[in-house]
This record gives sequence, C-alpha cells and structure tokens, in this order.
Amino acid sequence: MLNSSDYFDLQANDFGDDFIWGVSTAAYQIEGAYNIHDKGPSIWDDFTSKKGNTYQNQHGNDACEFYHKFQEDILLMKKMNMGHFRFSLSWSRILPKGTGIVSDKGIQFYNDVINFCLQCGITPWVTLYHWDLPLALEEKGGWTNRDIVQWFQEYVTVCAHSFGDRVKNWMVLNEPMVFTGAGYFLGVHAPGRKGLRNFLPSVHHAVLCQAAGGRILRKLVANANIGTTFSCSQISPYRNNRKDLRAAERVDAILNRLFIEPSLGMGYPWDTIPVLKRIQTYILPGDAENSAFDFDFVGIQNYTREKVRYSYLVPYVRAKIVKASKRRVKATLMDWEVYPPSIFRMIERFNSYKGVNKIIITENGAAFADEIDQGGVHDEERLSYLQAYLEQVYRAKREGLKVDGYFVWTFADNFEWAEGYYPRFGLVYVDFNNQQRIIKSSGKWFSHFLGTR
Ligand code: NOJ
Repeated sequence: MLNSSDYFDLQANDFGDDFIWGVSTAAYQIEGAYNIHDKGPSIWDDFTSKKGNTYQNQHGNDACEFYHKFQEDILLMKKMNMGHFRFSLSWSRILPKGTGIVSDKGIQFYNDVINFCLQCGITPWVTLYHWDLPLALEEKGGWTNRDIVQWFQEYVTVCAHSFGDRVKNWMVLNEPMVFTGAGYFLGVHAPGRKGLRNFLPSVHHAVLCQAAGGRILRKLVANANIGTTFSCSQISPYRNNRKDLRAAERVDAILNRLFIEPSLGMGYPWDTIPVLKRIQTYILPGDAENSAFDFDFVGIQNYTREKVRYSYLVPYVRAKIVKASKRRVKATLMDWEVYPPSIFRMIERFNSYKGVNKIIITENGAAFADEIDQGGVHDEERLSYLQAYLEQVYRAKREGLKVDGYFVWTFADNFEWAEGYYPRFGLVYVDFNNQQRIIKSSGKWFSHFLGTR
C-alpha cells in the first residue's frame, strides 16, 4: 500500500506560528464513572440503558475510564506534542439535577483535569454542552421546554465562576443540528424523541441558549475566547438536474445554515425550507435579537460531503441523502465518503459570512476497524485521510481564508453514540478489555508532525 507520508510534505510550521493544534473529546464518550460520587443521570445514561437504542446495547458506563485515567491520558497527549485539548463538561456531574445543588466532587474533577493540563503545558478548550443533558431536565421537557434557557444560564454561570480563572477557550454548544436532529426529530440519539413538534422548539431553544451562554461567558470570564461549534458538510446534487439541485439546497439549509444564521442575526433559512416557518410558534418578541451573539470564533466540524437527490417520499425536505456505499466511493466505517475538498468548501463557506471573526476546525477525523497487529496498530487509511484533509486546510490558508486551528477527532477510541464502540476514531487505540492505550501509526505520525514546530 502507498505510504502516504511519502508524498505529504507539509509541516506544522507551514500553518503559521499561532495555528492551534489539538485533539477533541466529549465527556460521555470518554469519562465512564457514570454514577460515581454525586453524578446525576444524563439522557445518554438513560437512552443507553434501554434495549435496542445502540449497537449491541452498548453504553458509556465505563467508556475509556477517563474519569480515573485522565492523568495518564493527558501525559500521553503531552508525549504526542499536543498543544491543546478540547473536552466537554458533563452538566449532570456538576449539577446532578441540572439546576440547584452543585456537586463539589464534580467541580473538583474538572479542576483536576484543567490543572493537570496546565501543568503539562496543554491549553484546555472547554465545550459546555456535548449532548448529555441531565435526565432531570429531560423529564421536564428537555430542549423542548423554553425554561431550558434559564437552566442553561444557571449551568454556564456555575462553570464560568468555577473554571473561568484558568479556562479561556470556551465553546457553548457542540453540533446543535445533530443533537436536535438526531435526538428530537429522528429519535436515533438520546432522548429518542421524534417529529417536528419536538424538533422545532428544540432548535429555537438551542439557538437562544447558544447566544445566552456566550453572553454569560463574556460577562464572567476575563479575556475569554468564546465560540460554538457546527457540524457541516458540502452538499452536492446527485444528478445535475433542477430537482436534485433544489433538493441539495434544502438539505444544505438544514445541515449547514440552520444554527449559524440566527446566531449572526440573519434569522432561520425558511425561504429555502418553508416548513421552518412553523418555528414562529415558539418565537417570542425579542428572540431574534437574543439569538445573535458576537462569537470570537466559530468551530466547524467536517468529515465528509453528502450527495442528495430529490425524493417525494421524504416529508418537508423532499430530499434524501445517497449513501457512500450506494455510490461506490471511498468511505470510512461510518459510510461517510472520504472527500477532502469538502473541508475546504466549508472553510470557504463560513468565511463568506460577514460576522464570522475566526474559524477553527474543532473536529475532523475518520473511523476505521483498527486492529492490533504484532503489537502495533497500522492505520494507514486514517493517516492518509488526515493528511489529505490537512492539505485542504492548508490550501484554504494559502488562499487567504480565515482558519486558525485544527483539532483531530479524536484522541483515543471511544463511545461513538448509537454506533457504540466499533467505529474507532482515535489516534490512540483503546483495548476496551483492559483499557490499554496504544498509539496508532496515525498518532505517531501526527505527533511527529507537531514535533517539527
Ligand atoms: C461529531 C461529534 O461531535 C462527536 O461526538 C462524534 O463522535 C464525532 N463527530 C464523530 O461522529
């Protein structure tokens, strides 16, 4: 097989001295210790405890045991030359019931993680919400209940007061399109709710929380660098005809525009998707202004591109995604097409919005079925994926587009939500039988790449 390092000739320095390099993770996917100390259950604890919701009914009860192994993992990051570590806070570890009593043990855990990062010379990047809503709040309606704006503000205030002296880089939400779409429309992620009557209020409340969270951080954290993150993919028509073209525009509005545009004060893209007008039921006077916030940076998370064709059968969007396997293109284990120019297009697209100040790739990576072979994990496919996507990030930079950092998803193999543990995304292999960590070839290459700075 072609060894990709033979033709990849970029160096980390080519991206500039200030370029941010790191790895991303999320609490539920790595921490485990799901019921330790005061931690309250989250919607993911609940969802995974019910049969049929995840691949082989797998769950994050133990995951990578980061809760107990964080020092080992952060030391490994240091050894791998990571300058920055993005992780999320578990809301129900900090406020077991979502509001009210704060757990000292929860705060202590994140203080330990933050302090250890700093001690190792690694800058912490904190995501406030990466999908694990406290179950107590879901029982009151979760994201469909407008009170979530109050609940969320209380949570952000606690976090800002507790960690804001040392944490300067914050992301309010992680991929709101995914947690509302998969969790409240399709029902394939926690909390497993479906339909427009769950989806639309969740979208609007997430938009309000995103901006409200930003405002609290701005007020409480001196010198904060405040962002939020969006999933995004280049959307292309399956065939070059009018119907598929229009279908692609509609899917683009849902997947790429629904959350960024209201946050920039542009409103929801209902010109493209008329059914979105029904969101007006949930909009109160003053909401349009309160949906906007002047983020210091936008985190974009790109993995693939989608090809879309017109379909009368799919309600509202009248479009369907043609899977990579049906198109016979190179794909990862998630059946996501390997298509590096997509990340360039997305950087370009987000650059075109007036009001986007800075762009950081807060996630990019690939899942493959890695195996240990003679003591090593030789993940050549991931290695070439990362190099090819990085070349596109570099191309964007060279063309003068804003892009200021790149985080690999993810540090080590972990719990991939409904897909369980089989899609391995890590630079580091995790043997879930004994929690052993083995740096994969991609991880060795990436640390070497970073080491040249
Ligand atoms: C998006 C999510 O933020 C993360 O939690 C997930 O594991 C990766 N992308 C891969 O699907």
